[in-house]
Amino acid sequence: MHDRTMIRVPDLDDFSGSAEENINAGQIDIEKQHLYMEQIRDRNDMYFAEKNRKRTYEVRNFGCQMNEHDAEKLRGMLHEMGYVPNQDEVPDLIVFNTCCVRENAEEKVYGHIGALKSLKRDKEDMIIAVCGCMTEQEHVVQEIRKKYENVDLVFGTHNLHRFPELLHKCIFTNTRVFEISNTDGEVVEGVPVLRDSDFKAWVTIMYGCNNFCSYCIVPYVRGRERSRAVCDILAEVVELDKAGIKEITLLGQNVNSYGHDRRDGVDFATLLKLICDSTSIPRIRFMTSHPKDLSDELIEVMANNERICRHLHLPVQSGSTRILEKMNRKYTKEKYLELVKKVKERIPGIALSTDIIVGFPGETEEDFNETLSVVEEVRFDSAFTFIYSKRTGTPAARFEDQIPEEVAKERFNRLLELQNSISREINESYVGRNVEVLVEGLSRTNDKKYTGRTEGNKVVNFDRMDENIDLSGRIVTVRIDSAQTWSLNGTLVNSKN
Ligand code: SAH
Ligand code: SF4
Ligand code: F3S
Repeated sequence: MHDRTMIRVPDLDDFSGSAEENINAGQIDIEKQHLYMEQIRDRNDMYFAEKNRKRTYEVRNFGCQMNEHDAEKLRGMLHEMGYVPNQDEVPDLIVFNTCCVRENAEEKVYGHIGALKSLKRDKEDMIIAVCGCMTEQEHVVQEIRKKYENVDLVFGTHNLHRFPELLHKCIFTNTRVFEISNTDGEVVEGVPVLRDSDFKAWVTIMYGCNNFCSYCIVPYVRGRERSRAVCDILAEVVELDKAGIKEITLLGQNVNSYGHDRRDGVDFATLLKLICDSTSIPRIRFMTSHPKDLSDELIEVMANNERICRHLHLPVQSGSTRILEKMNRKYTKEKYLELVKKVKERIPGIALSTDIIVGFPGETEEDFNETLSVVEEVRFDSAFTFIYSKRTGTPAARFEDQIPEEVAKERFNRLLELQNSISREINESYVGRNVEVLVEGLSRTNDKKYTGRTEGNKVVNFDRMDENIDLSGRIVTVRIDSAQTWSLNGTLVNSKN
């Protein structure tokens, strides 16, 4: 049995050198990966020649947009290796691309892997791989090693691009392979990507996070901030533009600190402007923005470029300055409200969304009321609300006065009720207006209706008029007829674009 595990103990001082200095090691590695992909492909081709059946795969995703984009890379590599997506049978290879931001995300993954134990008994040569944020924690790796013997391959977020080599080792030596890299500072370009959509694309502009919000595990599992080179990002978006992509979303845990680790002086506002100037992609989005770093320059670039969607996701987390300080968020309630005022004044009609945590250790009824008051004052279009989840290894996990679950749940419900009524009121104000919608496809629940999104990220459903025309991927005008809390219903006005 071959077992190799190195767990990273992250520290800000870990960050040695810029991404540029480290890029060569990563690039040499990716060239090697192409050789491993070829060898696995040859093996899979032989299997096909013999059995007239291609080996199949499934990637199960549990995380955020960053993870979804990682899954597109896993699929890209799997296709190069000659695997095809699984249809109805038991796949030959399953990859669990995991998340650990809250406890329930981890529990789901254990549930799924556990459920495969019997399947694996029936299909011995099936390979189960686990990667993503969860496996960057030592206790998780130990748990999988001991209790989930059906798992053959474990790797982390830093060595995702080494998947072909690790899979190769797993297949050709018939052993369990564990490799969790602790290497930060590498931005690896050239990993194959198989995108989920023909008209929407994720573009990661930076990896990692330096903020260490006291509740959050992400900096421990994703490492320090590493920005991609401007030329690599521009080359990618220009290609996407040429391919007819209608919407890109630039991804980073805190896109506003893009470029701080590089020496070319290009910050996020400048990058965004460069992307607008060098492409004609009709919709450009980004997430996430940390309020402490949102610059006036960025607001100006947004105000001056209509192709940047009138939508800003600006997580507030709490409305209480006292709690924000304990969260290590580095802004006050007043600063946040000032920022929102500035954004709304400069970009009229902008849709705002946010993330809020309820039941952070020490949160009093008074603190929670401050959160409600921010929600009332800002009137977010939508909010992702979470009950605080204790994450081993984070400072907040050691804080005293953890909030009882019933108290947190009761506050969560009150917050949800308030936010839902605001979302509904805002949505109702759209009735009678025409909006531009990027059509995503037919509604999952009703094939007589299309579903799509406005630039403010609101879901719009409207009737399919002509069964012979597919509007997916088109930007159309829809008149809004009625509103619900989470979506709008309308009628197609024109589909010229
Ligand atoms: N980098 C982004 C998103 C990080 S994770 C940001 O800073 O906004 C997405 C959201 O999960 C966070 O905004 C936060 O609201 C929530 N979250 C993170 N850790 C959490 C925890 N321990 N318990 C509950 N929610 C958490
Ligand atoms: Fe987590 Fe804070 Fe970093 Fe977001 S900014 S990923 S909440 S530590
Ligand atoms: Fe995303 Fe979850 Fe990792 S939110 S960065 S997949 S811990």
